[in-house]
Amino acid sequence: MSTNNIWTHKGTFLLAAVGSAVGLGNLWRFPYLAGENGGGAFLLIYIVTLCIVGVPILIAEILLGRSSRRSPIMGMRFLSRTHNASRAWESIGWLSAAAALIILSFYSVIAGWALHYTWRMLTGALANADAELASSSFQSLLASPSLLTLYHTLFIAASGLIVGLGVHRGIENGLRLMMPALLAILVVILAYSVMHGNMPAAVDFLLTLQLSDLSFEGWLAAMGQSFFTLSLGMGALMAYGAYMPGEISLSRTALAIVVIDTVVALIAGLAIFALVFGASLDPAEGPGLMFITLPLAFVEMPGGSLVGAVFFILVLGAAISSAISMIEPVAAFLVERFDLTRAQSVTAMVIASWTLGLLTVFSFNVWSSDSPFHDLLGINAFQLMELLTHILMPLGGLMVALFAGWALTHGEIMKELRTSEGWLHTWRFLVRFISPAAVAFVFLRAIPQIDG
Ligand code: PHE
Ligand code: NA
Repeated sequence: MSTNNIWTHKGTFLLAAVGSAVGLGNLWRFPYLAGENGGGAFLLIYIVTLCIVGVPILIAEILLGRSSRRSPIMGMRFLSRTHNASRAWESIGWLSAAAALIILSFYSVIAGWALHYTWRMLTGALANADAELASSSFQSLLASPSLLTLYHTLFIAASGLIVGLGVHRGIENGLRLMMPALLAILVVILAYSVMHGNMPAAVDFLLTLQLSDLSFEGWLAAMGQSFFTLSLGMGALMAYGAYMPGEISLSRTALAIVVIDTVVALIAGLAIFALVFGASLDPAEGPGLMFITLPLAFVEMPGGSLVGAVFFILVLGAAISSAISMIEPVAAFLVERFDLTRAQSVTAMVIASWTLGLLTVFSFNVWSSDSPFHDLLGINAFQLMELLTHILMPLGGLMVALFAGWALTHGEIMKELRTSEGWLHTWRFLVRFISPAAVAFVFLRAIPQIDG
């Protein structure tokens, strides 16, 4: 049974894909990764990775969704059958569903922190805070399982509600409302950071290239980030691609997604570092950059509490539009395969992911230093989820590239891509050889580092 959902408007796929792509990866992860890995050097490797791995696999994944017109698991089952390929390719669908479940579980917990900070900023709880207070306030949030669970529950329920309302009534309408507002907020934040922060220092920090900063760790981080930020290898874009009208140019849309995602990450990075430098704070705080350093920078500036609250609303909105793209592929599968209603399917996915998310919640407090995972693997549950993410997404992406590159016929690719012969051959060469080789190489080199 194939889906009979098609996006209502020509631009909706792009809107939905950008909604999926732009999220915590751009606003939270990219800036701190760049901060930790040498700014300009990281940016350079990141852009190279996007070109040889990100764009080709992005095209491949949307293509598989659109040509199968089914949710990822059923879609891969259908495609492997119609191409006389091994049933093993269906595992692309299963891997991506597992990745969606796992990513949503911790993504929701972290997005919940933004809920907390929106509230803290609005009530002025952090006004006059100093570095010590900002840091201890973050620590006490992490130390509270009940508070973390509350925010986690609110966030995942809101995301589930939108998907539960349906592809058109929930996802399309939600995005059409949310995305322009998020763009407007981003512009406001950028303007504010130019006015009150130290933008030249931020530009210097993010864009100055020092070749000695190039490192293998940087490349590893860039590769992981390009999968995460583009929502690759977990079925989100396959599921959305299944609803994409046939006449829209796939390659042009994919390029637009990558450009927008990268520009948003850059703007967020520049704005955040301008504020951090403007307040003379440390840019290399790591994951705490957004939740410790940035709030501090805001409250030191005129009107900062309000602008800070608006910033955290941006983070929340961007995270919700990503979270719904993690729920949709699995929910669509449950509807197709088991004839459940949409409400039942979404509820099942959300409850499973919520429960798994409790492991992340506890890894910041009751299980922070000793847990069943620690004893077994030497890392806590949150680190385990992150590790699984960085295995599942590249693995899924690798298989997507190989299937699209080797199993699909030239005619099918022509029909979907409808681009010039030259581009078509370039893309096919990339997904057949270059992207898989790059992913495999980074993978193999990374394995000794995991226990190290
Ligand atoms: N791309 C999203 C971000 O940058 C994260 C995400 C990953 C969304 C996987 C969907 C699927 O935040
Ligand atoms: Na992103």
